[in-house]
Amino acid sequence: MMKRGLSKGRRKTDQLGAVLRLRRELQLERAKREVLQGISRVSSEVQSLDRLYDHYLGVILKLTRTKAGSILLSDEIAKDLVFAACKGKGSEGLVGRRIPMGEGIAGWVVRTGRSYFTGDANHDRLIKKEFGRQIGMTSQNLLCVPLKIARRVLGVVEVLNKKDRKPFQPQDLNLLESIAAQVATVIENTRLFEKYDGKVRKLMTLKEISRLLNSTLDEKEVKKRAMEAATRLMEAEVGSLLLIDEATQELYFEVALGERGERIKEIRLKMGEGIAGWVAKTGEPLIVADAQSDTRFNRKADQKSSFVTRNMICVPVKIKEKTIGVLQAINKLGGRSFTKWDMEEFQHLADQVAIAIDNANLYRELQEAFLGTAGALGDAIEAKDAYTAGHTRRVFTYSMLMGRQMGLSTREMDDLKLAALLHDIGKIGVEDDILRKPGKLSDAERQRMEAHTMIGPKIVDHVKQLRKVIPGIMHHHEEYDGSGYPNALKGEQIPLMARIIAVADCFDAMTTDRPYRKSLPIQTALEELQKMAGSQFDGRVVEAFVRAYEVGELGETAISRPTSNPI
Ligand SMILES: [Fe+2]
Ligand SMILES: [Fe+2]
Repeated sequence: MMKRGLSKGRRKTDQLGAVLRLRRELQLERAKREVLQGISRVSSEVQSLDRLYDHYLGVILKLTRTKAGSILLSDEIAKDLVFAACKGKGSEGLVGRRIPMGEGIAGWVVRTGRSYFTGDANHDRLIKKEFGRQIGMTSQNLLCVPLKIARRVLGVVEVLNKKDRKPFQPQDLNLLESIAAQVATVIENTRLFEKYDGKVRKLMTLKEISRLLNSTLDEKEVKKRAMEAATRLMEAEVGSLLLIDEATQELYFEVALGERGERIKEIRLKMGEGIAGWVAKTGEPLIVADAQSDTRFNRKADQKSSFVTRNMICVPVKIKEKTIGVLQAINKLGGRSFTKWDMEEFQHLADQVAIAIDNANLYRELQEAFLGTAGALGDAIEAKDAYTAGHTRRVFTYSMLMGRQMGLSTREMDDLKLAALLHDIGKIGVEDDILRKPGKLSDAERQRMEAHTMIGPKIVDHVKQLRKVIPGIMHHHEEYDGSGYPNALKGEQIPLMARIIAVADCFDAMTTDRPYRKSLPIQTALEELQKMAGSQFDGRVVEAFVRAYEVGELGETAISRPTSNPI
């Protein structure tokens, strides 16, 4: 009987043990599932790691039925532990706080890679500086397990005080270790993903920036885009481009973005002065982790802009080994620091900026050479037609005034410049005696004279780069109401540059002495133009010209001394 009773008792115990084991396994499985479900939910909903830590801590507290807990991660560089997530009364504001790596239970767990379990926290010597104290909670009992990937400890998970006030049991430790293993894997994967995703995103940004930089030849635009790119690529508060003034050997802020930027534009730095000056002088890139304590740092810009420079990255902009300026980004966002990886990328951007600036410079030089040649050609016409000395350059000046008033783009202005300088180039093909005839022209002579609008396009057609201004040359004698020549075009059919040149041309004819009449005063000539607005001329163009006069751009000086350099 006794024997039977014993075996019955043992069977009951065994059954109970099996039930407990099953329950534990079930609990573990549920925990794993919850963590795994969390992964997908968090990955799709949550972008930042901080939110991920917070989410897992919530799951952990729920599964371990504890009141408070924290996830601490080790910072290998700073040699300390940082609170990545905290939950429980009084834990607000603890995230981001750091504790020395070797301190307390968390420190012990990180150091040894082993779990810590205590059922009586009050008498534990290691518990003194623990999480519970930080949040003002008396720790009755505590579990702390490492977040491990192989032998590498990423940090710890710590939980305090069970809700039912009972001490932790070994199965609680098993459960927490199991969840911690899952969480560690997720953290590691997410970190890796963030790291590589970040790199991929940066490379994409760099590629896009390079394309943007190289899609314009406008120097101003290149510089503006370089600044925007520096700020964006470096994830910084502000970025600037400083160029070297060859004549004075000083650095000046070429473009500075934002309102504050306007104020620092006036600042000039000597070579070697400030961080930018140091980089310009040495040609070496530099990261300054704490600007305020760096002796090279110059406070001029901060004082002018009421800006506080925390950290900065500065790289040289070189064209064919020659430093032409520096690119800098200030204050990495999110309280972070600039890294060596940033420096590599930033230098790459600066090299792209250098190429774009070089291209824009070359384009400008080419454009200047081109305009110089066009100006010389314009002058050549005047050698034939002594009565109209200076006509071409005056038409050029007036056309520029109108173009600016009308808000033409840089490209449109460039075309207008060339068209104005070459508008009468066709006169080269008109006989001298007709060109110089002081009196009225016969019908046949007039026809020859008018032919200059057809000869001009034929001349410039030989130069590919000049073909785009043919419409301006061909139609500068068309009239808005369709009564002009050579094609009797009307209104908007007449290219805008031709409509502008037409006004300039007529104004110059009225305000200069001719063999058969004296010149008119400016105001009278403008009134005449206004009378012809809508019939001979485009009203908006005349209006722009009058505006230029009203703001003082068109005075006696502009008429008697037109710019000698058409560029
Ligand atoms: Fe003409
Ligand atoms: Fe003309």
